[in-house]
Amino acid sequence: MIDVRAIQADEGHLLRAVRLAALTNAPDSFLETYQEVLDDPADVWTSRAAAGVGEGDALILLALDEGRPVGMAGIAREIGQRRRHRSTLWGVWVDPSQRGRGVGRQLVSTALEWARQREVRAVYLEVVENEDPARSLYTRLGFVRREVDPFGAHVDGRDVALEHLVLVL
Ligand SMILES: CC(C)(COP(=O)(O)OP(=O)(O)OC[C@H]1O[C@@H](n2cnc3c(N)ncnc32)[C@H](O)[C@@H]1OP(=O)(O)O)[C@@H](O)C(=O)NCCC(=O)NCCS
Repeated sequence: MIDVRAIQADEGHLLRAVRLAALTNAPDSFLETYQEVLDDPADVWTSRAAAGVGEGDALILLALDEGRPVGMAGIAREIGQRRRHRSTLWGVWVDPSQRGRGVGRQLVSTALEWARQREVRAVYLEVVENEDPARSLYTRLGFVRREVDPFGAHVDGRDVALEHLVLVL
């Protein structure tokens, strides 16, 4: 039974572990590199977890299988009166052993519900073009394509196109 819940302030180590697992499993799906995550000092993980408990402008969700992190999703609301109606979804990942069972949908739906409760009007995200499982997950939840940025990322000497998606809540 997978438990999806907000990270707790003292769970920086779990966040680091799940990000490293995501970047090992799906390095091309994310903008950060494994080495960048590895190099982040311990206090950075502590602050990210503390900021991600969902009480302020950010929420980090963990999917846990008997305490072991097997998935995550993050959402952050922009700051400032004129931008607080916008949020960005990031870091969505599910361990391959748990895929196809609704965990990704549960993570993203829970993040969207958090945003809805905060009167966010639009949720944005970037996804690598032709990344089918991710695109279908987002499309099923109502995201639509806004544009493609052909220079979204630069990986091993080549440009990688990123699709910009938006969901109006
Ligand atoms: C994308 C990802 C998070 C989906 O997680 P998941 O737990 O397998 O997804 P779910 O089981 O909740 O499926 C939700 C929807 O996604 C779609 N989907 C999931 N896996 C799919 C696949 N392999 N092929 C096509 N569609 C797929 C389905 O449309 C499904 O909708 P349905 O339940 O109405 O049929 C997972 O494949 C993953 O971690 N991929 C690598 C990392 C990544 O690409 N992250 C996104 C970065 S933007």
